[in-house]
This record gives sequence, C-alpha cells and structure tokens, in this order.
Amino acid sequence: AAVDNATAIVVGSGYGGAVAALRLGQAGIRTLVLEMGRLWNTAGSDGKVFCSTSAPDQRSMWFRTRTEAPLATFLWLDLVNKDISAYPGVLDRVHYDHMSVYVGRGVGGGSLVNGGMAVTPLKSYFAEQFPTVDADEMYGTYFPRARSMLGVNTVDPAWFESTEWYQFTRTSRKAAANAGLKTTFVPNVYDFGYMQREAAGTATRSALAGEVIYGNNQGKRSLDKTYLAAALGTGNVTIHTLEKVRSVTRASDGSYVLTVDRIDTTGTVVETKQYSCTYLFLGGGSLGTTELLVRARDTGTLPDLTSGVGAGWGTNGNTMLGRANHLWDTVGANQATMPVMGIDDWANTANPVFAEIAPLPMGFEHWISLYLAITKNPERASFSYDSTSGAVKLGWTPAQSAVSVAMAKKLFDRINAANLTIYRYDLFGSTSKIFADDFTYHPLGGCVLGKATDDYGRVKGYSRLYITDGSLVPGSLGVNPFVTITALAERTMARVLAEDTAP
Ligand code: FDA
Repeated sequence: AAVDNATAIVVGSGYGGAVAALRLGQAGIRTLVLEMGRLWNTAGSDGKVFCSTSAPDQRSMWFRTRTEAPLATFLWLDLVNKDISAYPGVLDRVHYDHMSVYVGRGVGGGSLVNGGMAVTPLKSYFAEQFPTVDADEMYGTYFPRARSMLGVNTVDPAWFESTEWYQFTRTSRKAAANAGLKTTFVPNVYDFGYMQREAAGTATRSALAGEVIYGNNQGKRSLDKTYLAAALGTGNVTIHTLEKVRSVTRASDGSYVLTVDRIDTTGTVVETKQYSCTYLFLGGGSLGTTELLVRARDTGTLPDLTSGVGAGWGTNGNTMLGRANHLWDTVGANQATMPVMGIDDWANTANPVFAEIAPLPMGFEHWISLYLAITKNPERASFSYDSTSGAVKLGWTPAQSAVSVAMAKKLFDRINAANLTIYRYDLFGSTSKIFADDFTYHPLGGCVLGKATDDYGRVKGYSRLYITDGSLVPGSLGVNPFVTITALAERTMARVLAEDTAP
C-alpha cells in the first residue's frame, strides 16, 4: 500500500490527543490526527447533531443494535434501553470478562459524552500517585493552563440554591449533612451562564433537556470547541475520522509505520492505509493506547516495549448506586445533567471515598438519589494478548470490584442510617443488585507514567514515541480524571517540544 507521510501523527482526539495536536501545530509541526469515531458537527433529520437520552437512535452508541445505558432498569422494567441500528455512535461500552468500560467515540473523545466535571485532585494525593512529578510545577503551571484552555467554570451558588434543576443535589447534600459528611462544589466545563438561560427559557435546552451521555447539542465546551478548534486554527493540523489504527511498527530509518482501517458508517472497512511519521503520539485513551502497545509488543512489531506496558490498570474505584428518599425529600422531575457537587470523605483514612451526586432526569418525581462513588481501591489489573483470538484481554476480577463496593457501602450505610433510608435495588438489572460493580467511566492506567514510559510520557525502549492520555495515570486519582489527563499532557508537550524536536 502507498504510504502517506506526516511529521507527527497523533492517535485519538480525546484529551491527551487534543493537547498534543494543539501544541505540535503551534510549534509549526505538520501533524495528522487519526480518530476512529466520526466528526460530530452535522445535524440529522431531526435538526440535531446528537440524539436525546430518552429517545436514542443510531447516533447514541458505537455499532450496537440496542443501547446499553449505565442504568439498565427502573422498577425492574427495561424502560431505559432501546433498539437502534448499527452506526458509529458517540458512546461505546467496551466489554471485558468482568468489567466494562464506557468511552466516547468521535472528534473530542470522552469530552463528547462525559459529565463535564472538571476536578483538580487533592495535591497530597496527586503527589502520592505521581511521586516523580514536581507537584508544585503541576499546581502552579499545568493545572491552571489546562483549566483555562478547557473553559472550566462554576455554578453561581445563589442560583444553585434556588433553582428546581438542582433540587436533587440539595436533597443529597442534606442527607450527607445528616450523617456529618462534608459536601463540596465541583467545577464543570458546561457553560453555567448558558444553563441559566436554558432555565429562563431564553436558550435551547441541552443540560436541562436530559442530554449528556449521548452528547450535548448546546452549552458543553467539549474538546472540538476548545483544544481541537485551536489546533485546526494553527493551519498545521489535519484530522482524519473513521480511521482506526490497527498496528504500529518501526521502519529501518526509525520512522513509525501505522496500518489503519478506514471504515464507512456501516462499519465496513473500505480501505486499509499506511501512514509513516517521525514522531508518534498515542492519545487513544487508557484502553486504546494500551491495546495498541500490548499487541505491538506481543506480536513483535515493537518488540522492545517493556513489561510496564499493559500493567497498572484500575477503575478509579468507580461504583454507582441509588438511595430511596422519604416522600417529603423530593429530588424533582426536572434535573440538570451536569453534576456540581460531591460528598467529600477522602480525608477519612479508614475509608476514603469521593461521591459525585449524579442526576437522574426522568421527567417525573422518583425520590431516587443517584451517586457515582470514587473509592480508593488499591486493586490493579493487567492486559494480555491472546494469540488465538488476536484480542487484548483485561484480567480484572469480580473480587477486585468487591473492594470498591465495600468502600462505597461503608459510606452510604452511614448516610442511610442517619436518614433512616434504604438503597434502591431495582436500578441495575437483577433484583438484588444495589451497587453497579461491573462498569467504570474512569479507565486509568495500562501504561503508567514512570513505568511504561519515562517521567514525561516517552515510551521506554523507543525514541520519538509518546503517550499523552489516561493510560499514564496509575489506576486511581480520587476525583474525575480529565483535568489531570489534560494537565499531564501539557507537561509532556512542553518538555518534548523543548528537548526532542529541536533542529
Ligand atoms: P479519550 O477516551 O477521551 O479519547 C481517546 C480517543 O481515541 C477516542 O476518541 C477514541 O475513539 C480514539 N481511539 C482509541 N483507539 C483508537 C485507535 N486505535 N485508532 C484511532 N482512534 C482511536 N471525567 C471527568 O473528569 N469528569 C466527568 O464528569 C466525567 N464523566 C464521564 C462520563 C462518562 C459517561 C464517561 C464515558 C466518561 C466520563 N469521564 C469524566 C471520563 C473522561 O471522559 C475520560 O477520563 C477522558 O475522556 C479520558 O481522556 P483520554 O485522552 O485518555 O482518552
């Protein structure tokens, strides 16, 4: 096959990929971004780019014939999921043996589907997780740079206290306070000025119309509107969509050669291409990057990759659960989809948990408080290449999920005891399931910083090969991860552009 050349190639257009693309473009380096998902900028027949959560269509999920929403049921009725036709939709759920992982697909990666919570971790926990990174420099330079580029803002506290759209949050705050627990506001990249106009009826509703996991049509500062728009603006960056990198090898002149499948919207491979580049940046996310490199090492296309590749993966301790409130503690038929508060019990060394107060917009009163608990689960798993099937497998076990559940249960047992309330047990499919222990929104690790790479994301064993995404984070962060992924990518790019690409 013919080989297309670029100076630098970036695989993936999520946070890690977007930061790399912008900083390379600004440095005058001709850069090609390869993204397996589509570009989400064209309205469908309903006049909207993304479909709604309540009536999902083919745009919702990545090549599925039925949606697989995190909340499978309500009163054990399968009300939530719908039949759809197969299409490169925006949300994927990647299934491993005992864990499934939600990821975004499209130009912007996870930023298209996530809750926008833009949280900077506790400095002490960051330093514990990244002992070789200068925390002062991160908190003085790279975190502020990431927050400002991402468009992080905070909800107006007075509006928060008065609006019906955050009553669900205030009800959960009260229940936490009754147990002596602290809550804290969390910033977001959703434009809260826009949200207030939605509430006032002067702007088209998005966060106030239930939109989030299948994309937001308004208000959300996803990466296509921030980093990637700026990257394209440099004139040096090109993005190819519906192109999936299948394998990577190195030519005798030291350049990297990528084999890439271009698919159409039915998923058929319509072309297999080869690209060659001098500098290769991997931003396929914890799963995408780790799978590529585990396969490259174990099939011998990049044989000098070390044993750090494929190791140190965790779920950020994610566990979802619901509580049933008393009849007088309503949560509201109207709920904004962007979370703005968390229960912060991370300082409790016996059982550290940070629980995001999550929305459950049903359009009617249901008295359910939903939470995504981030627990300090120390369990880690590895990826391995299965030569029979050619698949990369994840060795996560149910016992490892049970550690997260036990920690979440300890916290929420306290809240239930103080409020004389109970769990909801009808939300996650089977009749007795209280805790969703089989999926994560926060895949972290697989190519941990300082282990699979040097302290700046340079992959061990190979020069001019870099990782900039969530696979660098060692399995746990204590908070939602994208601000940290972005800040670490900024740090890597500053170093690499200063040291590795100088003529
Ligand atoms: P990311 O997954 O963003 O991007 C990787 C990109 O590479 C994708 O676009 C993918 O299609 C592409 N790709 C992968 N392999 C490829 C290949 N071989 N070839 C070509 N392209 C390839 N975090 C947070 O901080 N606050 C929050 O509120 C939330 N909420 C949330 C909700 C939901 C529903 C999800 C699924 C996730 C969140 N998250 C979150 C998590 C957050 O979105 C996540 O941590 C980041 O998107 C990870 O950024 P990365 O750059 O690592 O990869």
